[in-house]
Amino acid sequence: MERDVIMKGVILAAGKGTRLDPFTRILNKHLLPVGPYPMIYWPIKRLKHAGITDILIITNQQHLSTFKGLLGKGEELGVNLSYNIQYETGGGIADALKYAKYFVDDKFIVLLGDNLFDDDLSPFIKDFQNEKQEAKVLLKEVLDPERYGVALLDEINHSIISILEKPKNPESSYCVTGIYFYDKKVFDLIDSLKPSIRGEKEITDLNNLYINRKGLKYDFLRSWWLDAGTHEALFQANKHFFERED
Ligand code: G1P
Repeated sequence: MERDVIMKGVILAAGKGTRLDPFTRILNKHLLPVGPYPMIYWPIKRLKHAGITDILIITNQQHLSTFKGLLGKGEELGVNLSYNIQYETGGGIADALKYAKYFVDDKFIVLLGDNLFDDDLSPFIKDFQNEKQEAKVLLKEVLDPERYGVALLDEINHSIISILEKPKNPESSYCVTGIYFYDKKVFDLIDSLKPSIRGEKEITDLNNLYINRKGLKYDFLRSWWLDAGTHEALFQANKHFFERED
């Protein structure tokens, strides 16, 4: 009998976390406390809940041993963890992703480690696996889109026209969350990316390459979501997870 191939998961946990200074001068952002756990536990739990247990964590050289000391091979959380290092500091999210090349099979899911959410990922994963989709992003309507990648939609044709990274005057309120689905073409597309003005290979530029080839689909997150990358957001995340035991 043919069995579904179970997708692998990648969690990006590098980056400088400058908006969480001074904590991040000595600690990796994704290890800061959120509710009763270090932040990184939550994306791991979301993947595990959706049946994804083969997970790669990409972090920076400086923090690798801390992650390993905390999580080991993933036994405590019931997952199978591997690690890789993003060697370029400040290389950008798309640059970090290239270190997943030899870990993943054809289709896989990527979570930014500071994106915290309540949605069950299973239906999105199932859709992505079963449909002819090269890549997919999950959107969330927000009040402060200028903080994020913002998607301009053609809702009639259910397609994304473009994504702008942190636009001053956003043309929509649809934030592109840090939950991405890609096929293996992504690694060639990353190689072709040029660094942005701030010198980073941007995940938004990568997603726009998929838009150009008509390969990017979208769906909406339905429940609570937050990017815990600022002091205020970290506080909100703590409030949320203390009020809701998992
Ligand atoms: C990153 C991405 C942005 C995305 C956001 C989601 O921004 O660049 O497109 O909307 O994550 O959390 P950052 O939080 O790194 O500024």
